[in-house]
Amino acid sequence: MTKASKKTYRVGIIGAGAIAQGCHLPGYKKLDNVELVAYADPNEERHAEVEELFPGMKGYKNYKSMLAKEKFDVISVCTPNRDHAKATIAALEAGCHVLCEKPMATTLKEADAMAEAAKKARKKLMVGFTHRLMAGPQACKEMLQNKQLGKPFSIRVRFAHGGPYPGWAKDPESFYNPKIAAGGAMLDMGIHAIDLALWLFGPVKSVMARAVTLVKKIKVDDNALLLLQFANGSLGSIEVGWTSKPGFTGVEIYGTEGSLICDYMKGLFLCGGKASAGQDSVTEWKTLDKAPTKGGWETEIAHWIDIVDGKAKLEMNWKAGRAALEVALAAYASSKSGKEVVLDT
Ligand SMILES: NC(=O)c1ccc[n+]([C@@H]2O[C@H](COP(=O)([O-])OP(=O)(O)OC[C@H]3O[C@@H](n4cnc5c(N)ncnc54)[C@H](O)[C@@H]3O)[C@@H](O)[C@H]2O)c1
Repeated sequence: MTKASKKTYRVGIIGAGAIAQGCHLPGYKKLDNVELVAYADPNEERHAEVEELFPGMKGYKNYKSMLAKEKFDVISVCTPNRDHAKATIAALEAGCHVLCEKPMATTLKEADAMAEAAKKARKKLMVGFTHRLMAGPQACKEMLQNKQLGKPFSIRVRFAHGGPYPGWAKDPESFYNPKIAAGGAMLDMGIHAIDLALWLFGPVKSVMARAVTLVKKIKVDDNALLLLQFANGSLGSIEVGWTSKPGFTGVEIYGTEGSLICDYMKGLFLCGGKASAGQDSVTEWKTLDKAPTKGGWETEIAHWIDIVDGKAKLEMNWKAGRAALEVALAAYASSKSGKEVVLDT
């Protein structure tokens, strides 16, 4: 681990919408070693909101002008998906460490260009895979590492809600426009689910998927199902949607010695004992945590600044961002062709 510094980091934001206002800006504001310097967003309404909520920051309409005029150590890229790569590369070339929102990019070519830019600039590039920082998924990771479930053989991740409705996203249309978002529920929520599955179970060998538009009158998928085969032979299923009340939201992991149910609404549970379902007398349920979503956005920015400062390891790096994107794009290809897609990795 590198030695931590006493530096104050000058921070800028590209895209000052919901995730910037709900996670990045408040997260930076809490930190003593950060100065919030400026933000760029073409929309006037964002300027009024940021001036009120985070007074003292300079506002720009265009991130290129902002990067040319101001000096930053750190940039958060919080634009719609289409601009993640361009804005990240511009910020890296301006000498900044970059936290880029998910999905890292819309194509693997863009992801590779971002990785090259980070290597060339010798700067850190993190992707905002928030769920990894929640208490429940972290406990799952630890129990898998400690082999507490015996041999793990399957994982299911389900994330669903009503979609990027007004009241959350400042510009919901940017999520529904295929030219801006490059995908629907699968790229938006599925990318988090895919990242969790890869983080917990390792690389994926093949994908079969259906990404469809079932309810909303939009040009991108509002529901998707993925069947994953991991390189280690185990199985995964992912279910995401923009059309339901949340219902079960979270992660289930099944191993020969135990089942872990990480229900984001209800808690983290371990099912063990000696018998199978139906034989209640010898099946044991244990509540491990009543608040499995603790952490996440609340801790993401402090964790990121610790990484920049050399106090924490960068794990949600461009390799993780690219790997999740590769699976999501393979899932779209499978949905289109109706066939299983085998990955190179
Ligand atoms: N990690 C998470 O849990 C999480 C949650 C929500 C959103 N996100 C991601 O964050 C990104 C933004 O989502 P959001 O919900 O904040 O959307 P939003 O519509 O609320 O905000 C996007 C903002 O970007 C601005 N913008 C558009 N083009 C720009 C450009 N070229 N330069 C600067 N600003 C530009 C828009 O004017 C808008 O204010 C998306 O990629 C989304 O997938 C991540």
